[in-house]
Amino acid sequence: MARLSAGIATSHVPLMGVAIDQGKTEEDYFKPIFAGYEWTKDWIQKLENKPDVVILVYNDHASAFDMNLIPTFAIGCGEEFHPADEGWGPRPVPPIKNDPDFAWHLAQSLILDEFDMTIINQMDVDHGLTVPLSAMFGQPEEWPVKVVPLAVNVVTYPVPSGNRCWKLGEAIARAVESYPEDLNVQIWGTGGMSHQLQGPRAGLINQEWDRKFLDDLTANPERLRTIPHIEYLRETGSEGIEMVMWLIMRGALQGKVHELHRHYHVPASNTAVGHIVLENG
Ligand code: DHB
Ligand code: FE
Repeated sequence: MARLSAGIATSHVPLMGVAIDQGKTEEDYFKPIFAGYEWTKDWIQKLENKPDVVILVYNDHASAFDMNLIPTFAIGCGEEFHPADEGWGPRPVPPIKNDPDFAWHLAQSLILDEFDMTIINQMDVDHGLTVPLSAMFGQPEEWPVKVVPLAVNVVTYPVPSGNRCWKLGEAIARAVESYPEDLNVQIWGTGGMSHQLQGPRAGLINQEWDRKFLDDLTANPERLRTIPHIEYLRETGSEGIEMVMWLIMRGALQGKVHELHRHYHVPASNTAVGHIVLENG
């Protein structure tokens, strides 16, 4: 039987990808950003923790989708996905290898469970998916895990509510439980935390709000389910809504979790870098 062993959340700051690709992680600016991932990098390499498959909840930033096509929730079922060219060439990272049998099982289970997923066999994946992998695994020849990409629209209004995201997480947990193969599955919620990349409030970071979100993600996640979009917008800037993806991860875990590790640092590019590791059950 497949089991969902842990949930990980992390920011996907594109500058982190640049720093890794250009060998700058030891520089003064980047050192404290990457120091917070050392614990997780060690932990995830250990045989008992290493997932066979990661369900990687992320958002595309007009790389695979644009105003022509806006899936609210999409699942990648193809064999392989390549890094997108985001304007300066694709990142020099390995292709993402899926577990298509598992991905199609998830798609079937979620759709029959009344979540109308868009099924994607071909697309490129941008920093939203590749930066979290780099943060956790560094620069391997091949990614050491299979990855099921699960894309969420948090770019174009209307985006899904936090509560809807939570319920999708619960449906993902049911889907994992019903897969007969013996797989260690992790779910990652990526994106966030508070940031605004445009307009007069560009550069907004709300540390107090972010830290409370991290506290409640572990101990009081029920509060987070009902945070309205307008609060994300007001308190965390126009891009802080990426945090609803963390609620898919949290909804997939059983109510009680064990917080194994946490990292929060400001600044990382225009935002705060946040990261948390939660053991399931
Ligand atoms: C930045 C952060 C993001 O989440 C993103 O998608 C793009 C840019 C930034 O802080 O620069
Ligand atoms: Fe983003």
